[in-house]
Amino acid sequence: MLYAFELSGEHAVLPVEEIIGCLGVEELDYEEYAHFEQCLVLDIRGSAGDIDRSLLSIGERLSMSHHILKVVGICDLDFDSIIKMADGSDVSEHIDSGETFVVRARRMKHNGSIKTEKVEGYLGGSIFRKGFRANLKEPDVVFRLIMTDSAVLGSLLTSIDRGAYEHRSPQKKPFFYPGVLMPRVARALVNISCVKPGEVLLDPFSGTAGILVEAGLLSAHVIGLEVRRKISHGARMNLDMFNADYSLLVGDACRTALKDSSVDAIVTDPPYGRSAAIQAESLHHLYSGSFAEMYRVLKKGRLAVVVSELSVIDFADDAGFKVVTVFTQKIHKSLTRTFTVLRKD
Ligand SMILES: C[S@@+](CC[C@H](N)C(=O)[O-])C[C@H]1O[C@@H](n2cnc3c(N)ncnc32)[C@H](O)[C@@H]1O
Repeated sequence: MLYAFELSGEHAVLPVEEIIGCLGVEELDYEEYAHFEQCLVLDIRGSAGDIDRSLLSIGERLSMSHHILKVVGICDLDFDSIIKMADGSDVSEHIDSGETFVVRARRMKHNGSIKTEKVEGYLGGSIFRKGFRANLKEPDVVFRLIMTDSAVLGSLLTSIDRGAYEHRSPQKKPFFYPGVLMPRVARALVNISCVKPGEVLLDPFSGTAGILVEAGLLSAHVIGLEVRRKISHGARMNLDMFNADYSLLVGDACRTALKDSSVDAIVTDPPYGRSAAIQAESLHHLYSGSFAEMYRVLKKGRLAVVVSELSVIDFADDAGFKVVTVFTQKIHKSLTRTFTVLRKD
């Protein structure tokens, strides 16, 4: 069965990587079917009921998608092909008899010139002719047409509550300190780490706990290490606000008081030596010491996701990690963030 993820478009790689992480958490068997601009289509195998349940919980985790759809059909992006596809589609797996519907269309970036209201009207007519009544205000089923490199028509399974991330923006938390990742980015990285509810996630440079709050909201037990007592105190205030299940330690990321192979996932944003202060002999010492510690405490087969301004591949290699993926995000002219996903084999 095909499912489409309507991506936010705020980054080329992060939205897709976080979906892949979530599919891993739910242990879904899938293959990529198509990757259009701001739209990822996956072929997911299994019983429809189980897939729907897993995708609903993935919808609760994601931060960089807007909607998840069950695909009705995919065709070329031209008006006649879209209507022909809708007329020829069986929608019985999407809407039950007696249920009402609405059609919403969205154009991604500059794809095509089809007017959204016009195509919504025609698609509505097509579904009406199959015996269903439209209800624009309180429909039982929402059909969405994504106009990207192709046209993707589907029924809405779930929408991502993106507003919730705005409510958790750093300035709205009880303790704020500059240099914090935005909650949507932090959540995407936690998803990439594949941490499951009840598992342990460590951030050895926890700062104000931006990453830990996002992992805590997914019911992970979160552990934060922070060298500055005042910041660790602030992190506690932030974690308390979101009722996280947490442990905070004041100390050096190069010497943690954790057992070997005791954590399920690591997500961290170490200091780069400019905005966030480092507490170490040098940046080199800090990175080589902390990567060795991350490797020691992480369980075999699990992932560490590191955000940095410099390449951390040599430090990760020396510590024993396998590099899974590296991708970047340009923040402004003189700042490019690098995201490095590492595995302990
Ligand atoms: C870029 S900030 C992390 C921001 C964090 N993600 C947040 O949500 O606030 C890096 C943090 O590492 C801390 N730090 C610096 N040296 C450290 C060390 N040796 N061990 C542990 N933490 C350290 C800094 O005090 C700073 O709070």
